[in-house]
Amino acid sequence: MKQTSEIGFEPDWLSLREPVDHRSRDQDLLRRAAGCVAEGMTILDLGSGTGSTARAFANAGFSDLNWRFVDNDPALLRIAASRHPNAQCVQCDLSRIDGLDLNRVGLITASALFDLMPESWVDALVKWASAAGIPVYTALNYDGVMRWSPADPHDEGVTQAFNQHQRTDKGLGLALGPEAGSRFARVCAADGYAVSSAQSPWHLGAEDTTLHAKLLAGIAQAAHEVGKDEAQDWAAARQKTLSQTLGFIGHTDHLAVPR
Ligand SMILES: C[S@@+](CC[C@H](N)C(=O)[O-])C[C@H]1O[C@@H](n2cnc3c(N)ncnc32)[C@H](O)[C@@H]1O
Repeated sequence: MKQTSEIGFEPDWLSLREPVDHRSRDQDLLRRAAGCVAEGMTILDLGSGTGSTARAFANAGFSDLNWRFVDNDPALLRIAASRHPNAQCVQCDLSRIDGLDLNRVGLITASALFDLMPESWVDALVKWASAAGIPVYTALNYDGVMRWSPADPHDEGVTQAFNQHQRTDKGLGLALGPEAGSRFARVCAADGYAVSSAQSPWHLGAEDTTLHAKLLAGIAQAAHEVGKDEAQDWAAARQKTLSQTLGFIGHTDHLAVPR
């Protein structure tokens, strides 16, 4: 059954997480991904939201690239279009990945997307991209590891419950959740790609309390939905000491380049 309590794709949440996402991305992989794009070619950004991946590339010095944003949320695409007037915006659902136009596409990108997707979708994406000989860069795939300092005895149980929720249906079938990055890397390697992977964890500190507070609320809600009743009390206790708490939320980035 599809679960409805996602932390969400609201513009406010996406803009709150963007600075942390940008500083967490592995910069070497990002630069190598940008280097895959030949002059005049387009980057196809799947589940683009408001265009955060394009801004991450621009912040790293790659501001002169052609982008095509694909998302099923028209409100997010409107923001993307206003912030990136030269980008193409395509509103469609990613369920039929092979229906997307790959003409003059030199790189496929995605961030914070693959963990929402089922195994069959990731497998189909890799087959489709490899048949066309196109590199794929995927960033900020949640990997199932969350830690806080100081620790709380409920951290592990809440994390396990959250991870269980991550594997529920996010729209296209049971999601890979924490296994998304490793599945992508494995399938790419078997399909003729050279794959490079790196860690891109969020390190949350005193300057990130707004994001951290919203994240804890989302984690608690998701954990509660799969039966972890103490999750709400866990989050309430954590909220009280947030400015003295360090959070670690594990993610991975991957770049797959045709051999
Ligand atoms: C967590 S957000 C990440 C957005 C953006 N990549 C970023 O890093 O800020 C996931 C995005 O995928 C989009 N998305 C999720 N499922 C989708 C689907 N089935 N078809 C098209 N877009 C989808 C959402 O609308 C949202 O914009």
